[in-house]
Amino acid sequence: VSPVARQVTCTAPVNIAVVKYWGKRDAKLILPSNSSLSVTLSQDDLHSRTTISLAPTHVTDRMWLNGSECSVPANERLVNCLAAARRHREALEKANPELPRWSTWGIHIGSENNFPTAAGLASSASGYACLVFTLAQVLELPLTGPELSRYARLGSGSACRSIMGGFVAWNMGTQADGTDSQAYQVAPETHWPELEALILVVNDAKKGTSSTVGMQTTVATSALAAHRFTHVVPERMRAMETAIADRDFAQFAELTMQDSNQFHAICLDTYPPIFYMNDTSKAVVHLVTAINRLMPTIQAAYTFDAGPNAVIYAPRDHMTRLLQLFTYFFPAPTDVSTRDFFNDPYARVPE
Ligand code: PMV
Repeated sequence: VSPVARQVTCTAPVNIAVVKYWGKRDAKLILPSNSSLSVTLSQDDLHSRTTISLAPTHVTDRMWLNGSECSVPANERLVNCLAAARRHREALEKANPELPRWSTWGIHIGSENNFPTAAGLASSASGYACLVFTLAQVLELPLTGPELSRYARLGSGSACRSIMGGFVAWNMGTQADGTDSQAYQVAPETHWPELEALILVVNDAKKGTSSTVGMQTTVATSALAAHRFTHVVPERMRAMETAIADRDFAQFAELTMQDSNQFHAICLDTYPPIFYMNDTSKAVVHLVTAINRLMPTIQAAYTFDAGPNAVIYAPRDHMTRLLQLFTYFFPAPTDVSTRDFFNDPYARVPE
C-alpha cells in the first residue's frame, strides 16, 4: 500500500504589541533584549492562513507565499522551523517504530495573509505562528502552548505571542539556550471584550528597514535602547499587566502610547537613524492627543510598529465617534474610484 499524503490548513491572527519588542540578545535563537506584551486580534480580522501538505512524493520542501513560490533554502528561519519540527517527529518515530515515518517526507507550504505583507502589520507574527501550529498538526507533534511558542519564536520573535489569544506577554527569559523565552497568557480574550482595535493603513508598501536589520543596528548603536531595556521595560510590563487585570483603559492607553513613542525614539537614536513613522503617522498622533486632551477621559491609544500604519485601541463605545473623526481628518484618497475592489485585500469579506 502506498503511503497516503496528509494535508492540514490552519489560521492564526496577528498581535499588536503595547510593550514593544525591539532588540535581540541572541540573533540565532531569537532571544529578546526585553520582555514584551501584546493583544492578539480576533481570527476574523487580520490573519494568516497556511496549508501544509506532507507526501513521500514531495521531493523537496517548497513554499508559496501569497501565491508566489519563494525559496526555502534562502530563508534560514523557515529552514530552522522545519528542521526543529522534523527532529521532534524523528525522535517520536525512534521511540515508537510503529509510527509512520513522516519525518522523511517532503513538506509543501502554502501561506497567505488577508492584509499587506511586511508593511509593519505583524505579518511575520501571524505567519510563523500559523506555520508552526500547522506543522505540529500535520506531523502530530504533542506540543504544549509554551513549547509551540518557543518554536514560533525561531521564525519571528513576535510570532511566539500569536500562539495564544487575548493579552499575551513574552517573558524574555534568562537561559542562554532560550528554554524559558516564551509567551504566556496574561488574560484571555473574554477578559476585556469592550476593547477594540482599529487599523489605519497609512501605506501598505513593504517597509524600508526590516525588523531584523533594524534591531541589530539599534542594539549596536543606541544608548537610549540600553536604558530602555534595563530601566523602563521591567516596570512598564508590571504596570501594563495591572492595567489589563483592572481593565483600566486610561492606564492601558497611556502606557501603550508612551511605549510606542519610546520604541520610535530608540529607532531615531539608532545610527544611522531609522524612521518608520511618516507625516501621516505623526498627524494621527496629534489627532489622538488632541481628542484625549479635549475630552474628560482618555478616549483612544495609538501605537505604531515597524511601519507608518497606526493601530488605535479604544473601548467599543468610543469607536463610532473616533471613526467619524479619522474619516473627517483623513478622507479616502481621491483615486478610490480606480481601485480594483474585487482584488483589493481590504475589500475581501472575512472567511
Ligand atoms: O518579530 P519581528 O522580528 O517582526 O519584530 C516585531 C517588532 C515589533 O512589531 C515592532 C514590535 C513587537 O513587539 O511586535
